[in-house]
Amino acid sequence: MTQPDSYTPRTVLVTGGAGFIGSNFVRTAIEEQRFTGGIVVLDNLTYAGNLENLADLKDAFAFVHGDICDADLVRKTLEDHAVDTVVHFAAESHVDRSILGPLVFTRTNVLGTHVLLEASRQRDIGKFIHVSTDEVYGSLGPDGAFTENTPIAPTSPYSASKAASDLIVQAYAKTFGFPAVITRCSNNYGPFQFPEKLIPLMITNAVRDLPLPVYGDGLNVRDWIHTTDHTRAILAVLARGVPGEVYNIGGLNEWTNIDIVRLVLRLLGKPESLITHVKDRLAHDRRYAIDPSKIRADLGWEPLIAFEDGMRQTVDWYLARQEWWTRVMTGEYQDYYKKQYFSR
Ligand code: NAD
Ligand code: DAU
Repeated sequence: MTQPDSYTPRTVLVTGGAGFIGSNFVRTAIEEQRFTGGIVVLDNLTYAGNLENLADLKDAFAFVHGDICDADLVRKTLEDHAVDTVVHFAAESHVDRSILGPLVFTRTNVLGTHVLLEASRQRDIGKFIHVSTDEVYGSLGPDGAFTENTPIAPTSPYSASKAASDLIVQAYAKTFGFPAVITRCSNNYGPFQFPEKLIPLMITNAVRDLPLPVYGDGLNVRDWIHTTDHTRAILAVLARGVPGEVYNIGGLNEWTNIDIVRLVLRLLGKPESLITHVKDRLAHDRRYAIDPSKIRADLGWEPLIAFEDGMRQTVDWYLARQEWWTRVMTGEYQDYYKKQYFSR
């Protein structure tokens, strides 16, 4: 066990704060009045970023519309707002899109992270949380779970770009003593998740009686955690995580994809005949599972939301917020959906 840090953030830059997990983090931090100097969100509002996610809180944070790859803008943002802490969520985050168009993943996830790190180093930032993913570890066989010592072995352009950014962050921590901490979480679910990801895609298709496209045999396994539990873990890492360390985050909650889809159908009262098996994802990782022992023992964090409760709440949220997902699914998303599913 490493001795926990004791850090009090003042003014926090949240990159990607208009996305799914970033907006949940901003919401929780504002509701719990966590940062005395306030929050600055830096986001360039890609298809996945939506300020509507934070519309009710718009006066409670500063917003900078911009790209993390823009070094001048990043420097100016850190300076103008006297930022002392960075929580870095901004990324291209969808594996299937990284197969259809990989280059933007390297640009945002690798170059963007590097630009942000360098600007943060020059400003003597007190703590930098790099939000990474369990996908950097690659795929597991039927047994065991990822620990922080599992070798990095990514398989998709998305996970490779996240792994590359992790390595740069680790190099900054080692070379410059830069106070960065890396978190690697398993699959998140909850409100405001863009409906390209498994759970919201299945909910929004089932509501409209559209086919539910399950890749391959549907027996790939993911380890699901509610996004609010992930947010709470990041807050724990911000306060007590040791610079230079990696923390895995997961809820010990493994499910096959087909069982997740069946659960969604059961919660919505829809028939299993909507399930359609489609061609598998390329290089589809078979199983992810996180061993969260370190963050539990060292930082005292544990997940609080039982999966069936979280899923019921999530399904209810999508049922109540049909106007939100109808709006985000217009335009570019329709082209993506056609490319991804109609020519499979
Ligand atoms: P998301 O796709 O919902 O949101 C990403 C956000 O980043 C969007 O608001 C987008 O506009 C913004 N963004 C993208 N490119 C940008 C750029 N160049 N400059 C500024 N902003 C930019 O993603 P998410 O699911 O909320 O994931 C957030 C982070 O958490 C990512 O780093 C992801 O790798 C990591 N993560 C996600 C999961 C998951 O299950 N979703 C699990 C573990 C880790
Ligand atoms: O593990 C953490 C990662 O989880 C994050 O780093 C990523 O940002 C996030 O997108 C997620 O990646 P996955 O690829 O695991 O999530 P996705 O929701 O895309 O897929 C979950 C599983 O469901 C996966 O095995 C593929 C399968 N799937 C997905 C879609 C979109 C289907 O069977 N059909 C589908 O239509």
